[in-house]
Amino acid sequence: MKILLFGATGQLGQDIQKVFEGASITKFSSKEFDFSSTDKLVVNDQYDIIINAMAMTNTGLCEEQSSLAYKLNAERVGEISKLAAFMDAVLFHFSTDYVFDGLEKKKYTETDLPSPVSIYGASKLAGEFHAKMYHKKIFVFRVSSLFGVGGNNFVKVMLQKAKNGESLTVVDDQFMSPTHSLDVARVVKYFVDNKVEDYGVFHVSNQGVCSWFEFTKEILNIAGLNVELSPVSHTQFPAKLRRPEYSPLDISKISKYHQMPDWKVALGEFLGLLEK
Ligand SMILES: NC(=O)c1ccc[n+]([C@@H]2O[C@H](COP(=O)([O-])OP(=O)(O)OC[C@H]3O[C@@H](n4cnc5c(N)ncnc54)[C@H](OP(=O)(O)O)[C@@H]3O)[C@@H](O)[C@H]2O)c1
Repeated sequence: MKILLFGATGQLGQDIQKVFEGASITKFSSKEFDFSSTDKLVVNDQYDIIINAMAMTNTGLCEEQSSLAYKLNAERVGEISKLAAFMDAVLFHFSTDYVFDGLEKKKYTETDLPSPVSIYGASKLAGEFHAKMYHKKIFVFRVSSLFGVGGNNFVKVMLQKAKNGESLTVVDDQFMSPTHSLDVARVVKYFVDNKVEDYGVFHVSNQGVCSWFEFTKEILNIAGLNVELSPVSHTQFPAKLRRPEYSPLDISKISKYHQMPDWKVALGEFLGLLEK
């Protein structure tokens, strides 16, 4: 089995490589192939599985550079999908809880109508359409609030600030399901190993819901760090982009295939791996 991985240097891309250790993987990041400057995707070898973890994930930058966001998060996904169709390879693509506006105050299912409130969310939703436009053998995993050992993420930022002795002020009125990218990678591995053919959109996050404040409290708790932590409303922060206020994903559909751990368990595993 041969795998082609885009976004290999990202936090999810690195965890994908971890779970497929020993497999034949060809890895692409912007160093090997820069999707912002090249529009023709030419890959000579034949692959069975294509995994696209490539994306423009800097949400603030997406607001400022919307055409680049649509290029990378949507149009180029179409090129990857065409490539998968040409090779008849199974394509795994990742989207986000940011395709929803978060106004429903309930967990979103795969059949709920997306309504993004940011360029990032809109470009990722367009990416889902581009991915599905050219190929049928495709899985779109919508994931949320990722943290992975190989990435720059919220957990690492909070840990660093706390280690520096800084007091922390974190929003307590925006809710999500924090998700370890290693757990997402494990689902991909499960689908590949078990040759799952139930193509389509799946919500893939760790179980449970929390605010960013509650998430930070647990990070400090597990890491044994004692700094002042205060809750604040998101309305106190002048933000470049609107974020969904309540965007946890309903994971009933994926749970029929693979049980996702609770976010606190996932966080514990992540912090343990960071220490190694
Ligand atoms: N991070 C989150 O909280 C979050 C939440 C929901 C959904 N997601 C989705 O989950 C997936 C993985 O996210 P992640 O956090 O692992 O992303 P990430 O750490 O930001 O990694 C992004 C990857 O995309 C590559 N890339 C970016 N621009 C490129 C370009 N112009 N040409 C070629 N490659 C380029 C990067 O390569 P270089 O290193 O070479 O730049 C990197 O390997 C994405 O689809 C993202 O939208 C993420």
